[in-house]
Amino acid sequence: MKTSEMRNGSFMRVYADPPRGTDWYAVRRRAWIKSATRARAANMHEDIDEILFSEEQIQVGIDRVAEAVTKDYRGREFSVVSILKGSCIFASDLIRRIPIPLELAFVSAESYREGTVSGNLKMNFFPSGNEIEGRNLLLVDDILDTGNTMWHLKKELMERGAAEVRSCVFLDKPSRRAVDYEADYRAFEVEDLFVVGYGLDYAGRYRNLPFVGSLKQSAIKADDSAND
Ligand code: IMP
Ligand code: MG
Repeated sequence: MKTSEMRNGSFMRVYADPPRGTDWYAVRRRAWIKSATRARAANMHEDIDEILFSEEQIQVGIDRVAEAVTKDYRGREFSVVSILKGSCIFASDLIRRIPIPLELAFVSAESYREGTVSGNLKMNFFPSGNEIEGRNLLLVDDILDTGNTMWHLKKELMERGAAEVRSCVFLDKPSRRAVDYEADYRAFEVEDLFVVGYGLDYAGRYRNLPFVGSLKQSAIKADDSAND
């Protein structure tokens, strides 16, 4: 069987005829099984140890928070400020359950490097800074952990002239608090456990899981070795 030959001076690959009697159905089936197995291995759900909050439970928690926010802000102008990236899913579900007028803004907070600095925090506000002064801001985040992010953002926003800064978090881990800060609204409390899903990430992944779960040790180990 010839599998390659010279044509016009260059070496071309020529596909040989398949052996007579090839079972094409079996060949295609083997290929399908191989690709399906690969897809399963890459499914994020396999890395989850335990589901802590299901999609249904999440919606109930958000309804409760949305009701409290609506009650407190009725008749007041305010902006929901979604802290990127983790809160984007929570914020988009939350605001669709708040039936009163509001504006939407975004802020990113990173550890100190350059830009607008408050303590050890770099803040970027979108749209660029002109929707802070005199405004009532409701900061929204995926999780309140040590409290550093919220504490610094509130300080920076008040210094930039915000009239009021409150906060609403999807999850609260009070046992981890390192600064004197509490959220005004929270959907759920969690114990000191690393969780992913519904916006929360591990190494940039798992944000698109529709529920919140804890990660298997094997997923963390696999990732650590991948970073070596
Ligand atoms: P803080 O400044 O310590 O309160 O940290 C808040 C940020 O830490 C959150 O916005 C998350 O990005 C991240 N974080 C804290 N705990 C977790 C977790 O369990 N899973 C995923 N991200 C977390
Ligand atoms: Mg995050």
